[in-house]
Amino acid sequence: MDIVAIQTLINQDMQAVDALIQKRLHSDVALVNQLGHYIIKSGGKRLRPMLLLLSARAFAYQGMHHIHLAAVVEFIHTATLLHDDVVDASELRRGQQTANSVWGNEASVLVGDFLYSRAFQMMVEVKNMRVMDILSNATNVIAEGEVLQLLNCHEPDTSEIDYLQVIRSKTAKLFEAAAQLGAVISQQPSEHEKALAVYGMHLGTAFQLIDDVLDYSATTEEIGKNIGDDLAEGKPTLPLIYALKHGSLVQQQILREAIIQGGKENITGVVAAIESTNAIGYTTRVAQKEADLAVEALAGLSASPYTDALYTLAKFSINRHF
Ligand code: IPE
Ligand code: IPE
Ligand code: MG
Ligand code: MG
Repeated sequence: MDIVAIQTLINQDMQAVDALIQKRLHSDVALVNQLGHYIIKSGGKRLRPMLLLLSARAFAYQGMHHIHLAAVVEFIHTATLLHDDVVDASELRRGQQTANSVWGNEASVLVGDFLYSRAFQMMVEVKNMRVMDILSNATNVIAEGEVLQLLNCHEPDTSEIDYLQVIRSKTAKLFEAAAQLGAVISQQPSEHEKALAVYGMHLGTAFQLIDDVLDYSATTEEIGKNIGDDLAEGKPTLPLIYALKHGSLVQQQILREAIIQGGKENITGVVAAIESTNAIGYTTRVAQKEADLAVEALAGLSASPYTDALYTLAKFSINRHF
């Protein structure tokens, strides 16, 4: 199975999610519609809704809440992207200009707020306290993660542990919530709920580790984002942290300088240090361990195409080029 086979497997559900997203994107304020449709229509992998749908289907869920909540997690994700691109001063996302490049920072932040609050309106409609608990908590942890990351920016002494704490919060938490919610709405016993939460957390951690690898090793065409954005922001991701720890004294000097200053002027020296220390290999191995832990968490699930798809997503999180 591959990612395309997963898309085929849940195609009907995902179409329903997309239709709901379109419907609930609506506002009487023109700019909300314009900007909202711009980012939603630009595509995206829809991984978090995919995760929620697969998790629910793996437990043979029969209701309609999975569609609703899949739309909610995609709204939350989209809101974080709008805010994140302002904070990171990013100009390219999903192969097109970021919303902040087109409409400016103010509009992006405010429409991000619109999407967050629309997500909250929608999660309340499910009338399930556990669901609200999980999603409101996840949203809060994501915000905390982004603030924590801000504190680490331009900080060359950021450790691998500091970094892992940031990515567990800013990225893995929403994966965790999405996977867990499939079990929650299927009224699964707590072991299954826990298993899916653990799976999602490790999957999301692997996913962000590889995202940080791709920022140094992919092409702009592959990921639809500008390469080197992390360095430009002085963001100490694991490839940099590892190279800084294992590089020569000269390389350490180059890397420290690059993290403190930000910008892409030093990218040649930085990439050389990343290559000679094999920091990409190391980061990929850490990601692989996370993906393995994700897979292990699924041991108690009964076999089905949906469970297979969850295994496949763990492989995709490592092998992906986009
Ligand atoms: C981007 O997430 C933000 C990260 C957590 C790295 P995705 O790579 O899932 O973004 P889209 O939705 O597919 O564009
Ligand atoms: C994105 O982190 C995490 C959230 C949106 C919360 P990044 O800043 O690494 O993601 P990209 O590279 O901009 O997609
Ligand atoms: Mg970013
Ligand atoms: Mg990134």
